[in-house]
Amino acid sequence: MVVKSAKIETTDRMLRTLELVFLREEDERAFNFTAGQFCELSVFGKGEAPFGIASSPTEKGFLKFTINKAGVLTTALHHIEEGAEVGIRGPLGNGYPMDLFEGKNILIIGGGFAFTTLRSLIVHLTHPRNRSKVKEITVIYGARTPGLLLYKEELLDWQKRDDLRLVLTVDQGNGDWTGKVGLVPNVLEEASPASENTYAVICGPPVMIKFTFPKLMALRFTNDQIYTSLEKRMKCGIGKCGRCNIGHLYVCKDGPVFSYAQLAKLPKDY
Ligand SMILES: Cc1cc2nc3c(=O)[nH]c(=O)nc-3n(C[C@H](O)[C@H](O)[C@H](O)COP(=O)(O)OP(=O)(O)OC[C@H]3O[C@@H](n4cnc5c(N)ncnc54)[C@H](O)[C@@H]3O)c2cc1C
Ligand code: FES
Repeated sequence: MVVKSAKIETTDRMLRTLELVFLREEDERAFNFTAGQFCELSVFGKGEAPFGIASSPTEKGFLKFTINKAGVLTTALHHIEEGAEVGIRGPLGNGYPMDLFEGKNILIIGGGFAFTTLRSLIVHLTHPRNRSKVKEITVIYGARTPGLLLYKEELLDWQKRDDLRLVLTVDQGNGDWTGKVGLVPNVLEEASPASENTYAVICGPPVMIKFTFPKLMALRFTNDQIYTSLEKRMKCGIGKCGRCNIGHLYVCKDGPVFSYAQLAKLPKDY
């Protein structure tokens, strides 16, 4: 694929979104994916790694990825220029269970830059073709500071919608910030969404997930009503190398999206 455009997302300049376009029309036609799936991206001489697809299946003609600068490959993806080529394998993994979500309320809880595939899910669910397939959509999204929130223009658009409830929160506000100040688990408790007929999807740093889970339990969500996307070191991405397994599950092939009911059956040390 070719880099069509690139945008720095956050004030710390650690997150960069790449919009990639297919080189060949037949590759584009063959690339059908579900929100929550990922691709292996590669830059010649810099390696290959998995990245969640941040664009939605309803957005045609390009794929979006938001890259956190962490090591050799992601630094290369921060420096890559428009017009340059990026290798891609995918779509990989399972994605969010869209069939299960039909007719249900959807509670989306995100923290930090793990919001990428949640963006894909929100754009997909709010598309005119899909919006009537689910009932209420509630999104709770937090970052450490306002400058670290991703997709700021879209957040503003979503705030104006009357068919989506968006609650933004930051750990630390600034002079311009008019949203909430508080940690995601506490903001969830305050928002107190009903668990009845609802699926919760939660993606974020481990500490956020750790403290959010008991709040969901207190709101009477059961393990099979909660889904999350796991990040594990990967190599092949297709269930062959054994790099990403936890218990009998391969994160790359059986996941990365799992229900808590599935995760509860895994060895305790995970
Ligand atoms: C399913 C999946 C989806 C992902 N989606 C995204 C995404 O949308 N955007 C994004 O920026 N990154 C994402 N990642 C993480 C990304 O693949 C790694 O950060 C990548 O390996 C970085 O490559 P690198 O060569 O730049 O850094 P490396 O040199 O490989 O690593 C740099 C540092 O990051 C740590 N690290 C690498 N991979 C992981 C991991 N999986 N979990 C925890 N720590 C790790 C290393 O230990 C090291 O300290 C995803 C990972 C998975 C498994
Ligand atoms: S990355 Fe090879 S088995 Fe999952």
